[in-house]
Amino acid sequence: MNIIYQEEKRIFHLYNDEISHLMIVLPNGHLGQLYFGKRISEGKDYSYLLEMMPRAMSSYIFDDEKRFSLAHVKQEYGVYGTTDFRSPAIEILQKNGSRISDFRFRDFAIAKGKPKLPGLPATYTESPEEGMTLTVFLEDAEADIRLELLYTIFETGALARSARIMNDGEEPVHLLTAMSLCMDLPDSDYEWVQLSGAWARERHVKVRKLEQGIQAVDSMRGHSSHEHNPFIALKRPAADEFQGEAIGFSLVYSGNFLAQAQVDTHDTTRVLMGIHPSWFDWKLETGESFQTPEAVMVYSAEGLNGMSRIFHKLYRERLARGYWRDRARPILINNWEATYFDFTKERLLEIAKKAAEFGVELFVLDDGWFGQRSNERAGLGDWVANPERLADGIEGLAEEIEGLGMKFGLWFEPEMVNKDSDLYREHPDWIIETPGRHSSHGRFQYVLDFSRKEVVDRIYHMMEKILGGAKVSYVKWDMNRSITECYSRALPADRQGEVFHRYILGVYDLYERLTARFPEVLFESCASGGGRFDPGILYYAPQGWASDDSDAAERLKIQYGTSFCYPVSSIGSHVSVTPNHQVYRNTPLHTRANVAYFGTFGYELDLNKISDKEQEQVKEQIRFMKKYREVLQFGDFYRLRSPFDGNVAAWMAVNAERTLAVVGWYRILCGANMPYGRIKLQGLEEEYRYEISGREGYYFGNELMNLGLITTDYASGEGADRDLCTGDFDSRVFVLTAKDAGR
Ligand code: DGJ
Repeated sequence: MNIIYQEEKRIFHLYNDEISHLMIVLPNGHLGQLYFGKRISEGKDYSYLLEMMPRAMSSYIFDDEKRFSLAHVKQEYGVYGTTDFRSPAIEILQKNGSRISDFRFRDFAIAKGKPKLPGLPATYTESPEEGMTLTVFLEDAEADIRLELLYTIFETGALARSARIMNDGEEPVHLLTAMSLCMDLPDSDYEWVQLSGAWARERHVKVRKLEQGIQAVDSMRGHSSHEHNPFIALKRPAADEFQGEAIGFSLVYSGNFLAQAQVDTHDTTRVLMGIHPSWFDWKLETGESFQTPEAVMVYSAEGLNGMSRIFHKLYRERLARGYWRDRARPILINNWEATYFDFTKERLLEIAKKAAEFGVELFVLDDGWFGQRSNERAGLGDWVANPERLADGIEGLAEEIEGLGMKFGLWFEPEMVNKDSDLYREHPDWIIETPGRHSSHGRFQYVLDFSRKEVVDRIYHMMEKILGGAKVSYVKWDMNRSITECYSRALPADRQGEVFHRYILGVYDLYERLTARFPEVLFESCASGGGRFDPGILYYAPQGWASDDSDAAERLKIQYGTSFCYPVSSIGSHVSVTPNHQVYRNTPLHTRANVAYFGTFGYELDLNKISDKEQEQVKEQIRFMKKYREVLQFGDFYRLRSPFDGNVAAWMAVNAERTLAVVGWYRILCGANMPYGRIKLQGLEEEYRYEISGREGYYFGNELMNLGLITTDYASGEGADRDLCTGDFDSRVFVLTAKDAGR
């Protein structure tokens, strides 16, 4: 890994064993992009990559030639209206009304490791050897504004980027666009991959061909959203899960975002990713600076699985932090779908006792324990236990749960308030709403103005009191509505464009303070399921409730899509009751568990209410998960067959030594007289001999990877073994153990 600057040609080359990123200082002093992709050799003059030619209707920079146009060259941080007409990376409104910027190269610095981004989540290095950071200093002398572009190259195929803008001038300016990443690729022969959906069907994989024009995903909801994840990938049309070029782009941010690709007339593709410029207007006073969130680019020559594995490792080990980062996650039981708001302490203890008996490790008390919260209309904001429900408070309940041999966890929705709450009655002006305008609600709740420090402080103190006063080992941090009528009473008119971003900074501040104060508490994020499942939150909460939909068939798609960017250890997954509460589908208990194993794993039902046979199954599932969760959550994850492509889905996890693997195979509908089936496995050691659970003999790694694992379905109809036919939504999990590893 290294960063080289070729003084004479003014070329930067960031590289490691996997990738190269090449940039050049353009003839007008701006920073140009030459190449991002598989590693190429250093030391050569790559300036020939700067292609320019006269073209009709182009505009040119220099008076005496018709070649150098910013419309034709690939750039690192493009500005609209300066012969470049594409969407810009930066737009600054200056005192005279101009939005033109002219950032010219001044200097650079190369350092080992990676600096922190103040107040923002970001990837990090633990030793200076793990990464190198290049900072390129540019300046707009006319406006007296400096721009710093930061690039950190890691040992893998990942490059982290962000930008910092400083106002050295005598007048304030307004930052209207400040993207985290601008990347001009030399062609457009890509398919665009996005993770989109809605509440209860988050992060479905959608693929389409890039075409001339703009394609984008975004959120303007104040959170990253169920609708679109702040992730996109561009893959070559012939690339698939296992081979071919794929570039992933991921934004380490939880608020409004834009991810777009713009293909121009010359088939150049500009990728932009960052805070959504719509409704963004950040006033930069003299001497102030603005740091954008971080974006991470990943290059893989080994298809989408290769890209995902790079993201998984980086996000699992160098984005997530803290005590739980590298630890197998406790098997939990959550009371929400078992009771909703209708519980008493006795009822909770009944659920907890059974779970403890079966080996569950953590009991989570969900919504409804505080203030006057007996339904959706009251209580949010009053973070004190309701004595009518919990006579001995959270302290007493937590003690009793610990007495059962389990840890205790608690639900909060810190950013919200109901009008029927003491907090709202005391501070009606603390909500986000536009004075004189109608205020919309979501689930009868309003969003607290987290752009205000006093609001965040108040919530912190309430939560600190609960968490510090009782044995609470886990927090589920929920967030159940989007922001409407965005406005902060604490900010002047010309700063209202800052509210969305300041809000998220407030959320990060509260997360930072609570995780610092309670370093051993496991935080799980949630936003009506997966409405804020993004890398920003992963920095504070190493796992997130991936979706409110825990139906096994739906979850296959949700978890498959989620795995494009996020590690299995971050994917909150539960076995819930049937008929499922979201889609009313019946799926077998074994399939619900077989899907949930590839996540953090837990239960969300009353184990007293299932049959004796199912209770035995649950005990076995818990034993299984305890035995294999290390490999499931921290192994290399491979998607083998997509639930978006057909009736069968499959994936697997392999440990670092390649001595242990778990394969999940899932068949949605049972058919009559089904074909024979095989699945080629991945990531095994060629010559190892693997024993497979439930099968005789052994199989070589290369046998399983090249011939495949036989998954032929149980026959149906006449001659079928009735005991083996489970009908629709069947699944199997295979454990592969290398019997001669190390020989
Ligand atoms: C939405 C979450 O996604 C659910 O799991 C549950 O916690 C409810 N909120 C509680 O109100």
